Amino acid sequence: MARATASASHPRGLKATVAVGTRIFLRRPTPHDRRQYLALRRRSASFLRPWQPRPPTGSTAARQFAAWLASARSGRSEKLLLCRLQDGAILGAINLNEIVRGPAQSAYLGYWIGAPYAKQGYMTEALPLALGHAFQVLGLHRVEANIVPTNRPSLALVRRAGFRREGFSPRYLMIAGRWRDHERWALLAEDWRRARASRSARP
Ligand SMILES: CC(C)(COP(=O)(O)OP(=O)(O)OC[C@H]1O[C@@H](n2cnc3c(N)ncnc32)[C@H](O)[C@@H]1OP(=O)(O)O)[C@@H](O)C(=O)NCCC(=O)NCCS
Repeated sequence: MARATASASHPRGLKATVAVGTRIFLRRPTPHDRRQYLALRRRSASFLRPWQPRPPTGSTAARQFAAWLASARSGRSEKLLLCRLQDGAILGAINLNEIVRGPAQSAYLGYWIGAPYAKQGYMTEALPLALGHAFQVLGLHRVEANIVPTNRPSLALVRRAGFRREGFSPRYLMIAGRWRDHERWALLAEDWRRARASRSARP
């Protein structure tokens, strides 16, 4: 059973750890992650390119990492590294972006797994942990995921995590240099809590 707290026995990143599962844990990034993070992004470039916004012209990978880290500290987003419990290796990341407080209490969800680690169930394990963090620790009420209709692994992932399809927005986000249609999926805190309660009530 996953725990939404840091594990005292965990080998690395103890202070920054926000959730621990059976094979992976989630933790906040630090400047020391730069080399490993960029190496994984480099190895995964062709796998990730079709599904990601194009980086700003002239920005280097190092500058992109610095910007990602700076936004993690802005209070307007929560950036989490998905790491392997066995050895602490970075496998991917989950971002809760554009956190809006006040009456909305919402965030936009983004995620990616490194190409060598895809299709091994890592994100299926990680996403519920990130959602637990979003609803229980950050106190959010709504997490929204916007997905290109041809991105089948991503659609399957949010469906498995309990998201509801709310609609469709034509030419909603610029992905890989093109305005792409997106399916709009969201999960509300009360639906997440209900699903969790009915799972734990099962014999
Ligand atoms: C979407 C994405 C994050 C999914 O990550 P992932 O870690 O590969 O996801 P999982 O392994 O948990 O699940 C993927 C599939 O592997 C299957 N799987 C799970 N455990 C498995 C295992 N041990 N062995 C083989 N396959 C397994 C899952 O059932 C799932 O299959 P399905 O899509 O047919 O249901 C990944 O494809 C990715 O990073 N894509 C590029 C970036 C992207 O699209 N980001 C989202 C933009 S909206």
